[in-house]
Amino acid sequence: MNTLTPVLSAFWDQKDSFTMEGYKRNGGYLALAKALAMDPDKIIEEVKESGLRGRGGAGFPTGMKWGFIPQGDQKDHYLVVNADESEPGTCKDTPLLMANPHVLIEGVIIASYAIRANHAFIYIRGEVTHVVRRVQQAIEDAYSAGLLGKNILGKGFDLELVLHVGAGAYICGEETALLDSLEGFRGQPRLRPPFPAIAGLYARPTVVNNVESIASVPSIIANGAQWFASMGTEKSKGFTLYSLSGHITNPGQFEAPLGITLRELIDMAGGVRAGHKLKFWTPGGSSTPMFTDAHLDVPLDYEGVAAAGSMLGTKALQIFDETTCVVRAVLRWTEFYKHESCGKCTPCREGTWWLVQALKNLENGQGAPEDLEKLLDICDNIMGRSFCALADGAASPIISSLQYFRDEYLEHLKNGGCPFDPAASTIFATAGLR
Ligand SMILES: Cc1cc2nc3c(=O)[nH]c(=O)nc-3n(C[C@H](O)[C@H](O)[C@H](O)COP(=O)(O)O)c2cc1C
Ligand code: SF4
Repeated sequence: MNTLTPVLSAFWDQKDSFTMEGYKRNGGYLALAKALAMDPDKIIEEVKESGLRGRGGAGFPTGMKWGFIPQGDQKDHYLVVNADESEPGTCKDTPLLMANPHVLIEGVIIASYAIRANHAFIYIRGEVTHVVRRVQQAIEDAYSAGLLGKNILGKGFDLELVLHVGAGAYICGEETALLDSLEGFRGQPRLRPPFPAIAGLYARPTVVNNVESIASVPSIIANGAQWFASMGTEKSKGFTLYSLSGHITNPGQFEAPLGITLRELIDMAGGVRAGHKLKFWTPGGSSTPMFTDAHLDVPLDYEGVAAAGSMLGTKALQIFDETTCVVRAVLRWTEFYKHESCGKCTPCREGTWWLVQALKNLENGQGAPEDLEKLLDICDNIMGRSFCALADGAASPIISSLQYFRDEYLEHLKNGGCPFDPAASTIFATAGLR
């Protein structure tokens, strides 16, 4: 394949790509005019036919999700965009919003029209103040241009769009915790059913979609479902943003068809950093089981990654070379999950705490041989036994690292602590663990 398909990122190198003028110069808001002349159901059909799957992690078909919203029910409907991005390694929505906020706004208007929503919200991570300012400005510019508010483009469709700034909790990216947070409650996941499509925001039918999912919609409307479906693989259609980070020569966003391999992406990114070789990597952020150099040719689509034992997730490809201690890397991730556990259920609240203790002991030379089985036993009590997917994500790196790097864990026991020199790793040099 070895090719890029820049659509969302096509104009990021133009210095005014984030402005209304820049966006319009490159064909922006033409899809909106086309969409508002279409029947809303036809838009849902088009998105279904394109094969677009949610880019927030689970890969749920976007058109099907929109189709779940009951029509003619005389209730308010809501669209909520999930811009809470904060999983370690996941870094695609933030640059997309910085470089091209209008593509999201155009997608929001089209999606809201399709699901018959007159109110939409973007729930954005509060820490990224620069992105918040940029998106807010873009929303104000869209209001001034008559693209938001009453009677959009004179077509009789009204839409109010509100940017809601979150307070910075990973769990608020989980869609039902996000809805609670948006309503002003503490962000904790809700019991399902009812699903958001039936009782979401303010107990009204609600679609929650990722930034990239909604931003992909204008190009589908502009170019047609078949154009989108001509890219990618049989069940994973289209283009997507792959984020390469870590020990790579040129880290960044690579927009490519689904199904490209890491070998091809690393090639395009100038290789693993000079003089080093790949040791392990995540296909979709820290919550997805890690891979090794044996997985370089796995097609990076939903089916290919699942068949190889992991998940495509958010396509956050974190690259670690041979200078990285896998136990140390897993410990850092586990500390994150322990910190971000919302505390609602016991396996996650208590389990992540114990996982950190066991990993710290191994790293600091206080581990015991039975700790390896203990780690797996705690993971077994977490996986599938917790209230939401945060806890499964916490267990994934531990289980997969023990699968591929058990010898390195044993080396920690034999060595009386971490056998790696932290200073040799650019990523963990300042971890301060020893
Ligand atoms: C702990 C946790 C954090 C999540 N964080 C995000 C996030 O930051 N952004 C996102 O779009 N989805 C996130 N998700 C997935 C959402 O729950 C939801 O599936 C997604 O927003 C649906 O959008 P999509 O269908 O467009 O993928 C998270 C899920 C979990 C369990
Ligand atoms: S799994 Fe963790 S984050 Fe999810 S509800 Fe339970 S305690 Fe909260």
